[in-house]
Amino acid sequence: MPVTAVVGAQWGDEGKGKIVDLLAGEAQMAIRAQGGDNAGHTVINPQGHFALHLVPAGIFHPDTLCVIGSGVALNPEVLLAEIDALHARGVRTDNLLISERAHLVLPYHLLIDRVEEASLGPARIGTTGRGIGPCYVDKVSRTGLRAGDLLNPAEFRAKLAFATERKRAIRADVPDDPVWDIDAVAARYLDYAERLAPYIREVVPIVNRAVAAGQKVLIEGAQGTLLDPDYGTYPFVTSSSPTVQGLCLGAGIGPKRLTHAVGVFKAYCTRVGAGPFPTELHDAIGEALRERGHEYGTTTGRPRRCGWFDAVAARHSVQVNGLDSAALTRLDILDALDRIQVCVAYELDGQRIDYFSGIPSVLERCRPIYEELPGWQTSIHRCRRYEELPPAARRYVERLEELLGVPFDIISVGAQREQTICRRSVL
Ligand code: GDP
Ligand code: IMO
Ligand code: MG
Repeated sequence: MPVTAVVGAQWGDEGKGKIVDLLAGEAQMAIRAQGGDNAGHTVINPQGHFALHLVPAGIFHPDTLCVIGSGVALNPEVLLAEIDALHARGVRTDNLLISERAHLVLPYHLLIDRVEEASLGPARIGTTGRGIGPCYVDKVSRTGLRAGDLLNPAEFRAKLAFATERKRAIRADVPDDPVWDIDAVAARYLDYAERLAPYIREVVPIVNRAVAAGQKVLIEGAQGTLLDPDYGTYPFVTSSSPTVQGLCLGAGIGPKRLTHAVGVFKAYCTRVGAGPFPTELHDAIGEALRERGHEYGTTTGRPRRCGWFDAVAARHSVQVNGLDSAALTRLDILDALDRIQVCVAYELDGQRIDYFSGIPSVLERCRPIYEELPGWQTSIHRCRRYEELPPAARRYVERLEELLGVPFDIISVGAQREQTICRRSVL
């Protein structure tokens, strides 16, 4: 009964898309559990180079049933554009289902996201501007519209009118804009509905039948644990839970059915948007990581902030998610370095600490305590077995395993599907 969660273990963009595309070849089902099109999951495989935002990264395997789970914030316009782009490149989507419970991102969510960010000035979060936070606000305040509502035009229109009028009355700070035009928005969304209807289902029984039948089921996370509203760098976080717990919730699978939790870690750290980042590098090495790693956001094109691997933050992630193992990605980006630093603890007000504080102002005061390891200064792109990695690369991996207390079952040495070392099966 293998059910494996693939969870982002840092600040997102760890390479979840690559890992899920790879593992989905063995799975009968792949479920994207949470987040919305704030996510950008890159997949490079024999069919091409793809940036997915909502479609599960298992879609390239026609025999893998792909599900957009109830925890996803779904922008139907973005999803349809993504489906069209896949079709144009010969990728079929007959293996896609959408939970009727997934909440819809509405045009006013995007506007509110922008207005809120602008009003925060220097305190802004640096959101992706995709309306994801405002969509989840409506979900918990019980005023959201869901994918299932698209299936009944009269009901959809009535719910949209009610929600729009209520929102408009409450949000007097949000300017006049076509997003408040109920007729226009209803017409647009009901057009989307015609195309999306064949995909929309109550997926709970479908997913749980697969689990009960012992099929291999993958759950794909979006974002990363350090962006979790509870366990991340609040308030500089996203608005759904990118943890294993959030993945089970968004997939509609009870946590006791999960058999493996694999955390995806980059071999160093990056973050887009504002918020504390103790190991951030503001020097030539940070710049070199960004350029060599092409560290620019898949969704927004923003430069990613870069820094050394933070084992304090990573241990926090292991604990919060209860990880069984890890996938280490982008190890090749470190190829050229002669020395590599790993943060093993922080110094806070003259004291050594080994925990990841929940208070941003405390994290801002934490100074990383580094351990230096030798680099390998040779290309590892062609390595396919662990033994083929240079000794210094193995030493790096093994030191991270010691610091985190979990095995690195998968090591990724390039963006392509086959540029991967699989040491143990995680599914
Ligand atoms: P995700 O959001 O976690 O799916 O990650 P993104 O796709 O946003 O960013 C990860 C980037 O790293 C993408 O450009 C991937 O193609 C790339 N990538 C993934 N694994 C590797 C790797 O091992 N080496 C290199 N060089 N690139 C990788
Ligand atoms: P994937 O799935 C990296 C960040 C944003 C911002 C914060 C809140 O590709 O790893 P939001 O738009 O969610 O309200 O923005 O979260 N963020 C991500 N950073 N990867 C992502 O997704 C992200 N999704 C959101 O940059 O700091
Ligand atoms: Mg990404």
